[in-house]
Amino acid sequence: MDTRPTPPVPPPGCPAHESGGRVPLYGPGFAADPQAYYAYLRHYGPTAPVELAPGVEATLVTDYSAALQLLQDSSFFRKDARRWRDLNEGRFGPDNPVVPVLSYRPNCMFADGAEHLRLRQAVTDSMARVDQRRLNRSTRQVSSYLISQFGSRGSADLLGDYAKQLPLFVFNELFGCPADIGDRVLFGITGMFDGVNAERAVEVLYGAVGELVALKRSRPGDDVTSWLMQHEAALTDEEMVHQLALLLVAGNEPLRNLIGNTLHRLLTNDAYADQGGLLDEAIDDTLWENPPMQNLAAHYPVADMEFAGQKLSAGDLVLVSFAAANTGPALAAARQAGSNRAHLAWSAGPHACPSKDPARQITSTALENLLNELPDVELAVPENSLVWRPGPFNRGLATLPARFTPVRTAHRPAEPEQASAAAGSAPSGAGQRRERGGMWSQFLNWLTK
Ligand code: HEM
Repeated sequence: MDTRPTPPVPPPGCPAHESGGRVPLYGPGFAADPQAYYAYLRHYGPTAPVELAPGVEATLVTDYSAALQLLQDSSFFRKDARRWRDLNEGRFGPDNPVVPVLSYRPNCMFADGAEHLRLRQAVTDSMARVDQRRLNRSTRQVSSYLISQFGSRGSADLLGDYAKQLPLFVFNELFGCPADIGDRVLFGITGMFDGVNAERAVEVLYGAVGELVALKRSRPGDDVTSWLMQHEAALTDEEMVHQLALLLVAGNEPLRNLIGNTLHRLLTNDAYADQGGLLDEAIDDTLWENPPMQNLAAHYPVADMEFAGQKLSAGDLVLVSFAAANTGPALAAARQAGSNRAHLAWSAGPHACPSKDPARQITSTALENLLNELPDVELAVPENSLVWRPGPFNRGLATLPARFTPVRTAHRPAEPEQASAAAGSAPSGAGQRRERGGMWSQFLNWLTK
């Protein structure tokens, strides 16, 4: 619950306060304490003027009821980013750091109306076919593998060595990536998120996903990629590549942060440990108070209009602050009173996250396995020295240094069914030993040892 002083108290160092301009949602001040910014933004009313990066202006909805109204109103608010007036008018270039996240791609996130329904149904139906037991088994296997890589050291960066890696490996298994393609998917996604040679990383990712689509067209398997292409929506190769890339990108970053933010909560708050490690409660509290995706749901009004007391023009960029809406006084009071008004961490309306069940399951299994294998794990640095990654959209730690009694994890061979599913129908031969190669090859090798 937000217990900070009543606004308007400008967040420390907020340049908008001095200039009377838009409130910047970037830089170390925002990353260190976004809730102080949200408390301040609320004094503007249900929406506030913000800047996502230098020169990129947006209206941010911070109020829960206004957020729900916008998310559910697809006749006035559209997702297709080709309507974004400032980008069309060249007010900033495509190299601006926030543009790649917001600019149009032919996937369900940027589609409206009938096109959205068709693409989304294919995604939802394919993800719904993921078997819970298989997902649990695969998550546990990946978790044990990652722990085996650092367990004997007695210390690790639980963000870089664990939370960041685990979703990537689980996705490779779910999507049926053979070794060579899986290595490039991992390289591409990691490069994109780390901003290291990002253009090259995107090229590698799309290239690898394109090869995966070609491979599954000729040799379908028991995996999300094959189910998606077999769906009655009859996606073309191009549509396949874009939906798969969306699933990989939209899945990995928030999952990493849900695992990381929940671990942070567990390691910095004795209340959970005292009550026997209430994992589900820690995940819920994280979704309410520190959601992995803090501001997104970019929408564009179809015409000039008034919304929540604010004048908007056609093509303005309007975003929803899930984090601010969740912690606003109205919702906090409802939550305390036991009301079932839901938090917005998964968004709401027609574009709400279609994968919240598998995402929660992966998170819960990943944390349970870690805490079972490293029962005395604790933070290795003072809490106030932890650094949060900058940026307006996601909320996640840069690192999470931890220590624990060193463990030597026994190697648990894969059940045959899983080893072959993970290896897919690789042209190089499923189940074949691969002594070299990238991270995914090394995992497959460990599985089949
Ligand atoms: C298995 C992992 C995940 C997958 C495959 C996934 C996939 C997706 C996809 C495809 C969309 C777009 C839906 C549409 O436009 O109709 C989406 C939206 C969204 N997801 Fe997820 N997601 C995953 C995990 C998460 C997690 C852990 C969170 C945070 C708690 C999250 C929060 C959201 C939100 C807030 C949106 C709406 C974004 C927007 O409107 O701009 N997702 N997700």
